[in-house]
Amino acid sequence: MMRATDFLFLLALTGCVVATFPTQLVYQSPTGVFLENIAVRPSSKFLITSTQSPTLFTLDPGAANATLDEIYTFPNSNGLTGIVEYRPDVYAVVASVLNVTAASATRGSVVIWSVDLTSGVPIAKPVARIPQSTLTNGLSSVPGHPDLVLAADSDLGAAYEVNMRTGAVRVKVHGPALAAGAPAPPALGINGLHIERDGLLYFTNSQQGTFARVPLSGGEVEVLGDLEPFGLTNGYDDFAFDSEGRAWVTVHPGALQLFTPLANGTWVQQTAVGDPAGSTVINGPTAAAFGRDGARETKILYVTTVAGQIVAVDTGAKA
Ligand SMILES: *[C@@H]1O[C@H](CO)[C@@H](O)[C@H](O)[C@H]1NC(C)=O
Ligand SMILES: *[C@@H]1O[C@H](CO)[C@@H](O)[C@H](O)[C@H]1NC(C)=O
Ligand SMILES: *[C@@H]1O[C@H](CO)[C@@H](O)[C@H](O)[C@H]1NC(C)=O
Repeated sequence: MMRATDFLFLLALTGCVVATFPTQLVYQSPTGVFLENIAVRPSSKFLITSTQSPTLFTLDPGAANATLDEIYTFPNSNGLTGIVEYRPDVYAVVASVLNVTAASATRGSVVIWSVDLTSGVPIAKPVARIPQSTLTNGLSSVPGHPDLVLAADSDLGAAYEVNMRTGAVRVKVHGPALAAGAPAPPALGINGLHIERDGLLYFTNSQQGTFARVPLSGGEVEVLGDLEPFGLTNGYDDFAFDSEGRAWVTVHPGALQLFTPLANGTWVQQTAVGDPAGSTVINGPTAAAFGRDGARETKILYVTTVAGQIVAVDTGAKA
C-alpha cells in the first residue's frame, strides 16, 4: 500500500503533477465582468469585488439562479480590489480609481474602507488613505489584532499595516521579494497576502512568479515554490489556506495550484484545477475563499475569475 509520504515523494520527483479536483460553476456573469476578490460571510453568502465596478456585490451560492446584487457603491472610485473580514461580519475593502489595462490606480485615489454588515444595513466609512500607492491589492486580517489589516502594495513592493480604528498606516514588510522588478508597472509584485496560524506572512509575487513567506517582524523571505516547473515565469494571484495548512493559490491564465507542506519543511506544488497554460474551467482565476456553512461546505473553495466566473472546487474530494 502506498503511504501518503510516498505519494508526496512521487509528486516532488515528477515536478508538475496534475490532480484534478471536481469543480462546479456557481455563477457566470452575463457581461463577463472582471471579478477580483471574494469574502464569505458568516451567513455563507459571498461578498465580491470587481476591478471594473465601484460597487461591492453579494451573491447567495444557495440561490437557484444566483445573481450579483448591490451592497454598497463607493464614491470617488471606479473599481475595488482586496476584501477581508477583520471583525465578525465587518470588512475592509480597497477602493481606488483604477486603470485595469495599466494595472494601476491613480495616485491619491486609494482608500481603505470599513463596511459593517452586522446591523442588516451596510455602514460604510473611509478609514485610511494610502496617498503614495499606485495599486493596493490583497488584504489580510491579523490574528489576535481585530483592529488591524495588512494591505499589499503591488507597485511599491510593500505590505502595509492599517489600523482600522485610527486610520494609521505604516509599512510592515517591504523589500525586493515583494517588488515586481522591472518592468513595472503594469507588472505586479506582491498580490495576495495572508497570515497563517504559524504567525508568518505568506504572499504571492505575480511578476516574480513566487509563493513565499516571511516573519511579520521582517527578516528572511523563504520562497516556497515558483512557476518554472509549470512553464511559466509569472502569474500567481490571491490564495486561501485550508484547515490542514495547505495553500490553494490561483494562477493566471488558468489554474489553481495546491501547496502542501512536507514534514521536512519543504513544500510540494501540484496543479489542482485547470492548467497553468490556460483553461476554460477557471479562466483567469483571481482569488479564493472557503465556504462557511457546515462541515462539507468548509471543504468547498470558491474561486473568482477575470471572466466573471465563480467556480466551486471540492477540495475534500479524492483527486
Ligand atoms: C523533503 O522531503 C521530500 C519528500 O520526501 C523530498 O523529496 C525532499 O528532497 C526533502 N527536502 C529536503 C530539503 O530534505
Ligand atoms: C433559472 O434559470 C433557468 C434558465 O434560465 C430557468 O429555466 C429556471 O426557471 C430558473 N430558476 C429559477 C428558480 O428562477
Ligand atoms: C489606461 O492605461 C492604458 C495603458 O497604459 C492607457 O493607454 C490608457 O490611456 C489609460 N486609460 C485612461 C483612462 O487613463
